[in-house]
Amino acid sequence: MLSGPDPLRHLLDRRLLLFTGKGGVGKSTVVAALAAEAAASGLRPLIVELGHRATMQGIFADLGATQPIGHEPVPVTADRTIWAANLDFEAAIVDYVADQVKLRSVARTIVGNRALQGLFRAAPAVREIVMLNKLRLFERAVTRGRPTWGPILVDLDATGHALMLLEMPRVVGELLADGPLRGLVDALTGLFTDPARTLLNLVTLPAEIPVQETLELYHRLRRERGVPFGALFVNNVPASAIDGELRPYLPELAGLAAREGLPDLAADVLLAEQAIARDELVLTLVAQLQHEVDPPIALLPRLAPHEFAIPGLRRLGRAALSSLAAPPSPVQWDIQEQA
Ligand SMILES: Nc1ncnc2c1ncn2[C@@H]1O[C@H](COP(=O)(O)OP(=O)(O)OP(=O)(O)O)[C@@H](O)[C@H]1O
Ligand SMILES: [Mg+2]
Repeated sequence: MLSGPDPLRHLLDRRLLLFTGKGGVGKSTVVAALAAEAAASGLRPLIVELGHRATMQGIFADLGATQPIGHEPVPVTADRTIWAANLDFEAAIVDYVADQVKLRSVARTIVGNRALQGLFRAAPAVREIVMLNKLRLFERAVTRGRPTWGPILVDLDATGHALMLLEMPRVVGELLADGPLRGLVDALTGLFTDPARTLLNLVTLPAEIPVQETLELYHRLRRERGVPFGALFVNNVPASAIDGELRPYLPELAGLAAREGLPDLAADVLLAEQAIARDELVLTLVAQLQHEVDPPIALLPRLAPHEFAIPGLRRLGRAALSSLAAPPSPVQWDIQEQA
């Protein structure tokens, strides 16, 4: 768990940051935003996708990415401060074998063997283990005496996938006798349950169903998995559409509109009331999350479409930083101020 005066700074200092949440809540966007903020603070962020989709290719396409994102990290911004990889199962097997036999050409030969290929594919949990192993290799990589990457931001995609992936070392560990895989699985368990190195972050939206689903997921993860939590990101929080000082006058204005038959004023009052109800719902949901979950909560503003460039992503990352440092208060939210 994060603590201290600047929780998000502590977050970015971790080696491995995992992100999960329901479909479409903004996991990939939050990962890209935090990577932009990490790069701006002089860190060496690496974004890792797990092969299923290639969202980062799209997010960074217009921002200077000159080559396709593949299994090995490539820079995705023109200034080469943000890197990304999209893990490939077959290549991750070669990495695993190469790590064991210490000779990549031999590893390729072994993995290329048809009979063994069948074995690799059929063996239970191999996919999860070799993918987690690649994350471990990124975490261990060193350039000129310093860790090559930090933070490594892992976009875990769908919740089910994340749960399976995170539970794998423990489940497999329980089944394994001593053997060559034992050491690896123990190393993975060690890495993924070490709060000094790894934190699991949740992403959600400020709406009823996503919040309830997030609470369920949180309680499940807390009950069953040993991965320590980082933060809970509430993404896409709308800026308050209405000045708080107007509130006390709304009933009066509504009465005036009705008495004098002013349909435009009546419509405006209705819109203002809806905006207030929406703000209050956001506050209620955030309060509920704060009450039920231990990790700090960060609110991220809704961006306009034209803001999806590095400055906008950085603003999103910075907003997350500052809102983790201070208790959230969505109705006073001012996106411009975060810039
Ligand atoms: N803060 C934001 N402001 C405005 N739009 C946003 C914000 N965050 C995400 N979006 C938009 O919402 C959509 C979904 O975001 P994103 O792809 O990051 O979600 P995801 O959780 O990774 O989705 P999936 O589960 O499909 O991987 C995208 O079109 C993205 O541009
Ligand atoms: Mg995504």
